[in-house]
Amino acid sequence: MNFSQRQTRRGLFELGAAVGAGALWPFAAQSTVASKLIMRKIPRTGEDMPVIGMGTQFVLDIGDDAEKRAVRIAVLRALFDAGARTIDTAPSYGPAEATLGSLLEEMKARDRAFVSTKFSRTGQEGAIAEMRESLRRLRTDKVELMLRHNIGFVPPNEAADHLAVLREWKQQGICRYIGVTHSQNQAQANPRLIELLQKEKLDFIQINYSMAQRSVEEKLLAVAAETGTAVMCNLPFARAALFKAVSGKQVPDWAREFDAVSWGQFFLKYLLGREEVNLVIPGVDRVSHMIDNLDAGRGRLPNAAQRKRMVDFIGNL
Ligand SMILES: NC(=O)c1ccc[n+]([C@@H]2O[C@H](COP(=O)([O-])OP(=O)(O)OC[C@H]3O[C@@H](n4cnc5c(N)ncnc54)[C@H](OP(=O)(O)O)[C@@H]3O)[C@@H](O)[C@H]2O)c1
Repeated sequence: MNFSQRQTRRGLFELGAAVGAGALWPFAAQSTVASKLIMRKIPRTGEDMPVIGMGTQFVLDIGDDAEKRAVRIAVLRALFDAGARTIDTAPSYGPAEATLGSLLEEMKARDRAFVSTKFSRTGQEGAIAEMRESLRRLRTDKVELMLRHNIGFVPPNEAADHLAVLREWKQQGICRYIGVTHSQNQAQANPRLIELLQKEKLDFIQINYSMAQRSVEEKLLAVAAETGTAVMCNLPFARAALFKAVSGKQVPDWAREFDAVSWGQFFLKYLLGREEVNLVIPGVDRVSHMIDNLDAGRGRLPNAAQRKRMVDFIGNL
């Protein structure tokens, strides 16, 4: 079987899984209280937010491929049907914003989504132009969250200008929440991010946090909680490196103490075990992964001792 045949078979499997999930979902949603997705409050407003969202980098790089569009629609439907809603995108993720805009329009689901996007152009005019283009591509006149992308690389004067633009947009009601992201060399960027959180009243920070990148545990998470800043975790699987690290290994039995029965749940529940974390946004291009990740947002979460055991376990592989 060649690569494209495998892709097609995977696509068909995913479509089948999507139909199956749709058929089973109403039953699952009514089954037990424990099946409900965990919600955490956005500190600035008290709004409830489901702890599982999704990222769109690479995932929506699908052009007009009808089969892939159908699978991505099934992924989004699984997210919404579970009561989740956050979808993170950016102009720098190739066609992701435009694809997301067209998929949400086709699904008539814009009002079910909490859309988070970003800008990175220099200068206030550049930022405004880029944000306007995002709204056009997303086929909307408002987004729920607008973020200054990779703030750790932005000179302080420019960061101040960009935060001023964000505040203006928030005041005009074009975005409900504002914040900043960072993901590269996270440990080096943390002191700057901490300073920003302490000085500025940001609603959200999006950071690189996974079992493979734990530098934010030293101080940043505590400062986010002190300053009332919601925390969104990007790269929660370290771009799948964590799955490679455990390839061929079984999830330990003791992970059932906090209801983790897959590696995806193990890695996400580790992050959600920290109360300061509001949500995780794994990249997902298939329904089976979305359903698995949604299950990480249900049931028990690991406590500090269990999280230590998880780190030791992964460290000793
Ligand atoms: N500076 C920034 O602001 C910044 C930088 C980077 C990323 N981000 C955001 O973070 C998001 C996530 O990053 P990412 O997608 O690159 O990395 P990631 O979420 O760490 O990993 C995604 C990988 O994990 C796989 N996966 C997802 N769920 C799985 C499961 N349950 N079991 C097994 N494998 C699973 C995905 O496979 P499939 O695709 O096959 O499902 C994909 O290969 C991005 O989409 C973007 O929105 C932000």
